[in-house]
Amino acid sequence: MWSSRIAFIAAATGSAVGLGNIWRFPYITSENGGGAFVLIYLACIALVGLPIMFAEILIGRRGRMSPINSLRELSTASNANRSWALIGVLGIIAGFMILSFYSVVAGWTLHYAFLYFKEWIGVGASISDPGATFSALLGDVGELTFWHGFFMLMTVGVVGFGVEKGLERAVSLLMPVLLVLLLILLGYGMNTGHFYDAVGFLFKPDWTQVDGAMFVTALGQAFFTLSLGMCAIMTYGAYLPANISIPRTGAAVAGADTFVAIIAGLAIFPIIIANNIDPGSGGPGLIFTSLPLAFGQMPFGIFYGMLMFLLLAVAAWTSSISLMEPATAYLVEATNLSRKKAALIVAGLGWLLGLASVFSFNLWSEVEIVGKSPMDAIDYVATQIMLPVGGLLIALFAGWVLSSKITREELGENMPGWAFSAWLWITRVVTPALILVVLGGILGIF
Ligand code: PHE
Repeated sequence: MWSSRIAFIAAATGSAVGLGNIWRFPYITSENGGGAFVLIYLACIALVGLPIMFAEILIGRRGRMSPINSLRELSTASNANRSWALIGVLGIIAGFMILSFYSVVAGWTLHYAFLYFKEWIGVGASISDPGATFSALLGDVGELTFWHGFFMLMTVGVVGFGVEKGLERAVSLLMPVLLVLLLILLGYGMNTGHFYDAVGFLFKPDWTQVDGAMFVTALGQAFFTLSLGMCAIMTYGAYLPANISIPRTGAAVAGADTFVAIIAGLAIFPIIIANNIDPGSGGPGLIFTSLPLAFGQMPFGIFYGMLMFLLLAVAAWTSSISLMEPATAYLVEATNLSRKKAALIVAGLGWLLGLASVFSFNLWSEVEIVGKSPMDAIDYVATQIMLPVGGLLIALFAGWVLSSKITREELGENMPGWAFSAWLWITRVVTPALILVVLGGILGIF
């Protein structure tokens, strides 16, 4: 059990805040032209993310077991088909796929932290041409593979060898520091003279650019950034004490996550615009080619750069733990493997699948799967399809399968009656309908 509400918020926020906020949000916002995309994304957070956040926490807390077992138990108790437990299986696969490329990108941040470290102690060159530095990294299979493996081992250390205690304490200290660094960067961005251009890019919608693909991307990002649709938050919900308000706690996590993404956007886009980079140029390298420009000009920039990328790796670490946990827990339950062995197997397979992402930028740069690089294809299938499908099923399960007596017991005591009814009907009808329309768009039905 989490000692308190704060402990749950810390763990769930640790899962939610990660590369999704600081790496993925700016680059896909950039690719999707800013304003309209950001507003659609915020609407997805409110109308899809938040209701599913409540649903996952309540299923976890009511079931008090691993997602598969909780879902099975709750379906039996509701006289429903036990195959609802397959939501957990889908989540395990989605989490595993995300872990594979997540670790590669986290490896990039470690590589950058190390570059700044070497410069700081005087044994490395400065990053004078960030574009060239990033291209050089993408071409270096050995370097990419090494840091990808290094990060995977960091994750196994926690998931398999239970060094949780230390990490929890470290993270509760380090995450506020990351926020302070982002705020310093924001201050720097405000002084570039391009802050208002960035605000305009991020929030002034150009509705003519909106198309179905943008909705698909925004919805996927809402799931990705809040760690929803793959039972990660459900896993944490199982440890939440009964007397704590799910709506307040869930809203706090979603609020903190959204806040960090917006601050990251407001910090990064002024730098991009001030350096004459096209704000719509996007690409997964966006923060790696733009942030070093700022660090190159700031006083103590080398030190900031090192800290920033290091803390970004720590933020990614607390997220990757929750990506790896479901598959590991499942292996432990389903086989007689020890937790250590199970974690090593998941990490080993995740590392292998991650090589497809590593090779996307070099050996396999010509390979295309559904018109995308291997890394983009894995990201697309997991984030844009599997998470929303998982979320859809979770919403239907919480809204229609669980009796409203149960959901009212879990949520209703901490919410006024009208708010509970609003949640129930949004979860039953609005959220599933929105997800279906967007997924229907992918399949070309609409
Ligand atoms: N939410 C994490 C991020 O934004 C990624 C993640 C997705 C973690 C799904 C767990 C489950 O970086």
